[in-house]
Amino acid sequence: MPLADRSLIARRLTWMNMLASGTALVVAILILLAYDLVTFREMMLVNRSVQAKVVESNTAAALTFDDPLTAERTLAALSAEPRIEGGGLYRPDGRLFTSYLRDPALDPLVLPEVPSDLIDWHRFEGLRRLHVIRRVLLDGKPTGVVYIRSDLQEATERLKGYGAIAGVVLLVSLAAAQLVSRVARHAISEPIAELAALATRLSTERDYSVRVTTTGQGELAVLISAFNEMLAQIQDRDQSLRDSHDLLEERVQRRTAALDASNKELEAFCYSVSHDLRSPLRSIDGFSQALLEDLDGRLDDSCVEHLRRIRAASQRMGTLIDDLLNLSRITRTELTHKPVDLSALARTVVDDLAIAQPNRRVAIVIAEGLEALGDPRLLRQVLDNLIGNAWKFTSKQPAARVEFGALEKEGETIYFVKDNGAGFDPAYTERLFGVFQRLHAMNEFPGTGVGLAIVDRIVRRHGGRVWADATIGRGATFYFTLVSSAAHSGHAA
Ligand SMILES: Nc1ncnc2c1ncn2[C@@H]1O[C@H](COP(=O)(O)OP(=O)(O)OP(=O)(O)O)[C@@H](O)[C@H]1O
Ligand SMILES: [Mg+2]
Repeated sequence: MPLADRSLIARRLTWMNMLASGTALVVAILILLAYDLVTFREMMLVNRSVQAKVVESNTAAALTFDDPLTAERTLAALSAEPRIEGGGLYRPDGRLFTSYLRDPALDPLVLPEVPSDLIDWHRFEGLRRLHVIRRVLLDGKPTGVVYIRSDLQEATERLKGYGAIAGVVLLVSLAAAQLVSRVARHAISEPIAELAALATRLSTERDYSVRVTTTGQGELAVLISAFNEMLAQIQDRDQSLRDSHDLLEERVQRRTAALDASNKELEAFCYSVSHDLRSPLRSIDGFSQALLEDLDGRLDDSCVEHLRRIRAASQRMGTLIDDLLNLSRITRTELTHKPVDLSALARTVVDDLAIAQPNRRVAIVIAEGLEALGDPRLLRQVLDNLIGNAWKFTSKQPAARVEFGALEKEGETIYFVKDNGAGFDPAYTERLFGVFQRLHAMNEFPGTGVGLAIVDRIVRRHGGRVWADATIGRGATFYFTLVSSAAHSGHAA
């Protein structure tokens, strides 16, 4: 489809052109018609006045000498002018002296009321009739009145003829205007239509290499070159953006590779450190135990106590190293996302705790059907630590109670582990999730202070968050969220 055909602006331009020229023509025709009508009426009035004057001078004597026959002949001469409907001669007091009527079917003559001091008088009755009156004077004395009535048929016929001509002229001119505007719009609307089409293409395809090819003049030329210039600038910026994006991408890749390498190095380092630290630790523990056994009965109590402390410290250091290695492994290991039955997992955790400490009496409440999408092994660690803590920090509580449940808030599932144990000052909540942060004395509640740091890392790796609420001596509640299953559905392994 050629541009000009589908362009709205082209059609508008044509219409505007035709409207403007049509209006100008109609105005011009109306002015011409009005001018013609006015001159025609003036000419007619002059003619009728002259005829009235002729009748006046030819009938003055007949009126004076009361000779209606002569007057009638004079009036009958008016029949030479076909547009005169009739004429009448009246006495000064308005009585009819004699009259002439072109056609007896016409309305009878009625002398209009005219002020007596007027010599000449006329009146146009719309476009129908012209009434002309002239007083007959003899030696300055009024002796009668001449009245001539004409139709204005000629004027209406002229108007009709002109109207028809005007219509034809209007049609021909509008056709010519349309032809002219077709040529003109080639110069105006085509460049604009191309600009519009190009702008649409730009917004959909984002190909900034295109340019407007048509030329224009004046403001159009300025518009086209500004548009092309703007496109060139956008293309430049687009290119430099792409360049910096590539550069950034490359840098990120390089950094990621470097990070991967250093992570691997760190992993290897951690492994060797743990390995290297563990064997001397084992030696310390082993030799201390050997000393205790070999010198059994020969060592005094304080020596035995020292050796026992050496053993306890080296075992504790072993636990610390294990915990640290576990913590660092969480960030490195690959996550899997599977549906996990958290209720069942919690029951296993509690069972293990009960087996390890069979003499503890704890009321356990585990909500049914709690499910999540995540890494089963890591989620097990979360529950191990949270339920383990609840179990541990309720050990001084005669009626210990631990609950695992969930609540829905703003479309999010919030899991919680609640106990009625030792609790803590809520002002320190944030600190608890850091490594080695503990709020309770080691001899009261043993531990390394790594559990909650592990929970925090695992929950964050699942896209969730963890927080706590507690009162000293009245228990604590730990809450955590995991990203909704919908968000994970794409990654499920
Ligand atoms: N349920 C709880 N009630 C009271 N205090 C708690 C509870 N859970 C954690 N805490 C406080 O937060 C501290 C940190 O907990 P975290 O689990 O990290 O360490 P831990 O239990 O002491 O040692 P680990 O878990 O490494 O064996 C605890 O020492 C304790 O002071
Ligand atoms: Mg713990």
